[in-house]
Amino acid sequence: MDWNGKRVLVTGGAGQIGSHLVARLAAAGADVSVADNLWRGHRENLAPGGVPAIDLDSRLHVVDLTDPAACDIVTRDCDVVYHLADVVAGINYVFGNQFSLFNTNLRIDANMLQAAVANRVPQYVYVGTACSYPTDRQMDVSEGTPLFREEEAYPAQPESSYGWSKLMGEYHAELAMNEGLMEVGLLRFHNVYGPHCEMSPAKSQVIPSLLRKALRYPLEPFDVWGSGRQRRAFVYVSDAVDALVAVVERGMNRGVIQIGPDYSTSIREIAEEVVRVSGKNIRIHFDTSRPEGDLDRAADYAKARELLDWAPRVSIAQGLAQTYAWCAAQLGEPQKQARRA
Ligand SMILES: NC(=O)c1ccc[n+]([C@@H]2O[C@H](COP(=O)([O-])OP(=O)(O)OC[C@H]3O[C@@H](n4cnc5c(N)ncnc54)[C@H](O)[C@@H]3O)[C@@H](O)[C@H]2O)c1
Repeated sequence: MDWNGKRVLVTGGAGQIGSHLVARLAAAGADVSVADNLWRGHRENLAPGGVPAIDLDSRLHVVDLTDPAACDIVTRDCDVVYHLADVVAGINYVFGNQFSLFNTNLRIDANMLQAAVANRVPQYVYVGTACSYPTDRQMDVSEGTPLFREEEAYPAQPESSYGWSKLMGEYHAELAMNEGLMEVGLLRFHNVYGPHCEMSPAKSQVIPSLLRKALRYPLEPFDVWGSGRQRRAFVYVSDAVDALVAVVERGMNRGVIQIGPDYSTSIREIAEEVVRVSGKNIRIHFDTSRPEGDLDRAADYAKARELLDWAPRVSIAQGLAQTYAWCAAQLGEPQKQARRA
């Protein structure tokens, strides 16, 4: 597909995944705009190495998408809308803010969809999450890692209001697709990580949190929340962006397509790899008084392979090393030479 001159809006474009998508599309010649209130996103993510991927004065709209009027303005004259903006954060934030998170995400998603339909946006992409899968199955590891297929999100029983809000976002966008109001692309991501991640203690997810602790060690203890036995299917951000580009090119109106590897990695393994990459002599402490969430999950990504020619390409070791280097530069910490495996 020729992206040259396409008018693309990326909501949440200053965030982790969105900022990499913006850079990819701008490099392909698209005319990319961003709508983001910078709640967790950062302007600097749109200018990696100090070089802006887009004209930040005219193409970055710092707006709150819980405001319907803002959604109306940013969705005018778009060929493609990637709607990635939502409240996303670590387990502590999610479980401590169940009502406000659900309320905010439902409003953002409904406002954006309604505005896109009203402004006749031809192509709309929504991104769901593996957190929407039923919690009972994610807790049942009697037969090994639960390998989810797309349709297994129902009967619905997500663990948190975050998972519920994102499932409602998928469902809402599916209704627009079914009624032919627009072409809709639906991706459901497992745990995405990479550079441009949020590292703050209040809002960070597990990998950025462990990277921060390793970089600051021993000023900050290297505490891992839970037993470390909980497992997730991690997706490096460039693999996530591959899927986002491919869904517009080949995966519109095909229902939900799940994006994630067909194996999981324990948080203990992640912690040990982070310590290895850091090259530091770090003592890992498992804090079992802290929540650890669902036990295990991974993706049967046959649909992504078939429709999008998608497969995970970046290994955990490569991805963690690249993310560690980025985090180290952000925190201004000198890196020790990482030990080789
Ligand atoms: N990171 C993951 O592991 C993961 C997994 C599955 C799905 N997703 C989904 O992918 C999308 C992007 O996630 P991410 O990891 O890049 O998170 P992120 O937090 O880095 O990006 C989300 C962006 O939305 C913005 N935002 C939040 N509230 C807003 C509001 N009211 N108005 C305008 N902007 C607002 C934030 O400032 C942020 O830049 C989200 O929809 C998320 O649910 C992420």
